[in-house]
Amino acid sequence: MPEGQKCSVKEITLPEPEQKKFDGTVFPLILSPNDEIENQFFIDSTGKALSWVQNELSNIEAQLLKHGAILFRGFPITCPSDFDIFVKAFNYEALPYVGGAAPRTLVVGNVFTSNEAPPDTLIPFHHEMAQVPNFPNVLFFYCDVAPTEGGQTPLVLSNLVYQRMVQLNPSFVNTLKEKGVKYTRVLPNGDDPTSPIGRGWQSTYGTSNKEEAEKKALELVGSIEWLDDGCLKTITRVLPAIREDTRTGKEMWFNSVIAVYRGWKDTRNSPEKSITFGDGSPMDPKTMDVLENVLNELAIDFRWKKGDVVMVDNRQALHGRRSFVPPRRILAALCK
Ligand code: FE2
Repeated sequence: MPEGQKCSVKEITLPEPEQKKFDGTVFPLILSPNDEIENQFFIDSTGKALSWVQNELSNIEAQLLKHGAILFRGFPITCPSDFDIFVKAFNYEALPYVGGAAPRTLVVGNVFTSNEAPPDTLIPFHHEMAQVPNFPNVLFFYCDVAPTEGGQTPLVLSNLVYQRMVQLNPSFVNTLKEKGVKYTRVLPNGDDPTSPIGRGWQSTYGTSNKEEAEKKALELVGSIEWLDDGCLKTITRVLPAIREDTRTGKEMWFNSVIAVYRGWKDTRNSPEKSITFGDGSPMDPKTMDVLENVLNELAIDFRWKKGDVVMVDNRQALHGRRSFVPPRRILAALCK
């Protein structure tokens, strides 16, 4: 493709539940190239430029704010390093995965494996790193190997969850607003790949020195305690569970309540202790069922295709992972 020529992109639609429409706005927006884009034009082999993204950046960002997530399908992003170049073209600051709970491995550049929890484990809806102060604003997920069965990355618009919960259980929402929430997690001594929250304190804080880990932990959480078996228990400060997105004025269900209640379960952690209101009082199990149903009702569940990239506005949308039959390889890049 000659220099200066623009790659034209069309919007495509998918049937529910792969894509849904709320108040006339599709979720997610799905973009696909009109014609075959030459790799050379799209992915610069020097890794410096990706002209399509750079030309379209303000437009893409406006669409992301409007829709909450964009699925790029059919673009010539064929391997993890193409994905890394694609993400870098946005010029966002990469966010190191400090304080996150999931076991992850660096693949290339700023690209990591997504949560390596066992295939039969469902990862409940969450805003990425909602439990630490420095959370990413934008997430990119890339499909390197598409699952044949299950393995979707469902997405939900957070404001819709908030609105629905206000309708169904206003007193729970008020208590959340008044008291906030606290997260308690016991980090193993070394990674435990059998757990979806099995990231050991060493890789969580990037050190095997206890004093150093303690210092880093205390920047992220309110208090810590070393256990006899070498595990580290962390308790966050009281955090808000509902936040206004100052860009839109909309209230967001910005918390990991259901993720923790359903997902922080292993030999070291139990849901009732892992998530509480800010004053330490427990969540009501029936309300958790209601919340989970709301999330599933509102969720979209697109089927991954090889080369897909989904860009998620982490302030506006929650994501999760369905269980699957291997193989499946979804990679992630987190940005400020
Ligand atoms: Fe996540």
